[in-house]
Amino acid sequence: MHWLRRLLGAKPAPPPLAEIKQAFEDAAGDEEHFPSTIDPRIYHVQLLVRTFGPLDGLRVLDAGCGKGRFARVLRDRHPAGQYHTLDLSEAMLRRVPEGMHRCCGTLTGLPYRGGTFDAVYATESLEHAVDIDAAVAELCRVLKKGGKLVIIDKNRAHWGKLKTPPWERWFRRGELEQLLARHCARVSSKPVSYWEDVPPDGLFLAWIAER
Ligand SMILES: C[S@@+](CC[C@H](N)C(=O)[O-])C[C@H]1O[C@@H](n2cnc3c(N)ncnc32)[C@H](O)[C@@H]1O
Repeated sequence: MHWLRRLLGAKPAPPPLAEIKQAFEDAAGDEEHFPSTIDPRIYHVQLLVRTFGPLDGLRVLDAGCGKGRFARVLRDRHPAGQYHTLDLSEAMLRRVPEGMHRCCGTLTGLPYRGGTFDAVYATESLEHAVDIDAAVAELCRVLKKGGKLVIIDKNRAHWGKLKTPPWERWFRRGELEQLLARHCARVSSKPVSYWEDVPPDGLFLAWIAER
């Protein structure tokens, strides 16, 4: 039916989850594009650190964690936190630092009870989730009341700036704000750059929500 969809000008259907998963299994060996570490001075990290505050004794979820580079930095700062990492790709998860909880699963059906986490974040992973409404609902569902969620992803206005797989989606600020507001009390968003002293070029946006 691909030809009919194209004829009608419809967007091609996204590939099945298994195909997306396989793409990331294959990509896990690519350390340049999917690094296992991140410079803690990068503002994306700083934003998590400042939004969540001290994480010792708290339960944290890195949703779509890849190799857990953000969780690695957060744990270095707050070693007494409980770090849970979830990703679609087992090959990515194998590279998550030892001592963290690892779970293979999808953002659209998180295998945790409602209200499990004090802090949840998804960095450049929601853009791959295909069913964005479901993934946002899940990220909010697993947050405790008063818990905080940070999503960092790319700006729809810059679509085309980078090469993207066919299922990837970038977001408008208002679009994700509205979705988050269905489930969370306080929602905001802003452009973020890698370095705090460099003005954002608009490619990356951060959404912050409190349940
Ligand atoms: C660009 S990487 C970002 C990884 C990590 N958050 C980081 O910033 O280093 C995207 C990750 O999302 C994962 N992913 C894609 N679709 C997913 C889904 N539906 N559920 C969970 N993880 C998913 C991929 O396997 C991949 O590891």
